Amino acid sequence: MVRPCRPAWQNRRSSLYPEAIAQAAARAEKTGIKPLFEADETRFDTFSFSLDDLLLDLSKTAIDADALGSLLDLARERQVEEKRDAMFAGARINATENRSVLHVALRAEPEDGFAADGEAVGEDVERVLSAMSGFANAVRDGEAKGAKGHAFTDVVNIGIGGSDLGPAMATLALAPYHDGPTLHYVSNVDGAHLADTLEKLDAKSTLVIVASKTFTTIETMTNAATARRWIAAHLGEDAVKDHFAAVSTALDKVGAFGIREERIFGFWDWVGGRYSIWSAIGLPLMIAIGPEGFREFLAGARQMDRHFRAAPLRENLPVLLGLAGWWHRVAMDCPTRAIIPYDQRLSRFPAYLQQLDMESNGKRVGLDGEPVAISGPVAWGEPGTNGQHAFFQLIHQGTDVIPVEFLVGANAHDGDEMAVHQDLLLANCLAQSEALMTGRTLEEARRQLTDAGMSADEAERIAPHRVFPGNRPSITILYSILDPNTLGRLIALYEHRVFVEAQLFGINAFDQWGVELGKELAKNLVPVVTGKEDAGSRDGSTRGLVAAIQTMRRT
Ligand code: F6P
Repeated sequence: MVRPCRPAWQNRRSSLYPEAIAQAAARAEKTGIKPLFEADETRFDTFSFSLDDLLLDLSKTAIDADALGSLLDLARERQVEEKRDAMFAGARINATENRSVLHVALRAEPEDGFAADGEAVGEDVERVLSAMSGFANAVRDGEAKGAKGHAFTDVVNIGIGGSDLGPAMATLALAPYHDGPTLHYVSNVDGAHLADTLEKLDAKSTLVIVASKTFTTIETMTNAATARRWIAAHLGEDAVKDHFAAVSTALDKVGAFGIREERIFGFWDWVGGRYSIWSAIGLPLMIAIGPEGFREFLAGARQMDRHFRAAPLRENLPVLLGLAGWWHRVAMDCPTRAIIPYDQRLSRFPAYLQQLDMESNGKRVGLDGEPVAISGPVAWGEPGTNGQHAFFQLIHQGTDVIPVEFLVGANAHDGDEMAVHQDLLLANCLAQSEALMTGRTLEEARRQLTDAGMSADEAERIAPHRVFPGNRPSITILYSILDPNTLGRLIALYEHRVFVEAQLFGINAFDQWGVELGKELAKNLVPVVTGKEDAGSRDGSTRGLVAAIQTMRRT
């Protein structure tokens, strides 16, 4: 049986949450968002929450005081606090891989005393951080040299998924803090990615970091082998040891690649790939912004961790963001959410969040192995204002309601002569969330047209096209400026939000079996694509495509 894309939501709803939330959802559909402001002048104060200069505004959602109360009850009922405490205590909450989940230990201070299965991890974490700092400083000040005695002007990070998206996103986000060599990120097994990157570089002054938790991922291993041949071809086989560094949990496998021991940086199986930017996977970022900037980044995340651990649920930013996310996904039945940073340097943040969110909560069964009715939503997005001139049409007037999460800084880095840009950016961001909520009625549309001199008949014909339903929810995350500390807080906010939602869905957020099948099949298909094996037993479509590829292929 082929399942419809969207089963009837009314049927799914009732079994998923308590009656109080069903009633809140029905009320929300009837009342909408704008009237909530008319009924309560202090709504913004009640529904916006801060951690220093980071503000989370939930007031432009349909969550009212009773709904929030019921959502907080749901969080208690689904034991969000107990599960959070178990994670921080180093319990093996990743039950399908039998692992602790302790990325929070990577940004800790000694007094936090994190332990995995009772074994303290702080010293190991600090040892790797110090080794990374030593190496990063040596690369940055030119003390670490290539085989021919040149300092490194360029660093190429080869990794994919969690071994790429985090540092690539953060390097871009923190561009104003760069004072190290130029960073390049290569992830795709498509040879174009590596070829286009290496073409611009001089092997003599290029350092390659191979980043892979498992050191088996085929894309990364293939790119690393090609980069290795490139160095060897330009500088000789002996130069490999001077031009490579590696980051991995599989230290045995790294040695065989020919990388010097002091340039191998480890991490641990209690760090998930998509949660690994705080580990040695962050080495390229550290090389770009320096160890002090990197420590600031860690400190921001730690601040959010401590808030998540200690703040009451009603003031707890990750809990509230998680509850609002769950509300939109389940109670309001919105299949996707858009992440729209009005901050060009966060242009890779939506892609980063896609992995964090969808690889974590895109699961069809719960922790108990039983099917779940609804998993996490599709997360997607692009920076504003660009999105306004592309897909915002559908967000305003399409038939699906898409909750939007706006991120914007009050300040920019780019000097007084650019001040007007920031003013426009902020105005656009606020205008979008206002327009989504307020909308425009048929009557208003008609009036605007006739006021502009259009005949009544013509206005009647055009007006329906100019109606905006409004009552479309959005969340705004406002911060003072995108610096390392703020970026650390933002990422940790979203990590913990994903955790909170996972508890509400009943999902294990820390495994990723869904990506394994494609990996296995790809490996088996290589000999078929190259013609070494027959496609005989494959399905008809795959056989047809293989035959077509072989006809088109120029050898
Ligand atoms: O895509 C699946 C995945 O396992 C991600 O979770 C991970 O971030 C990525 O592959 C890269 O894995 P590795 O760091 O082991 O090369």
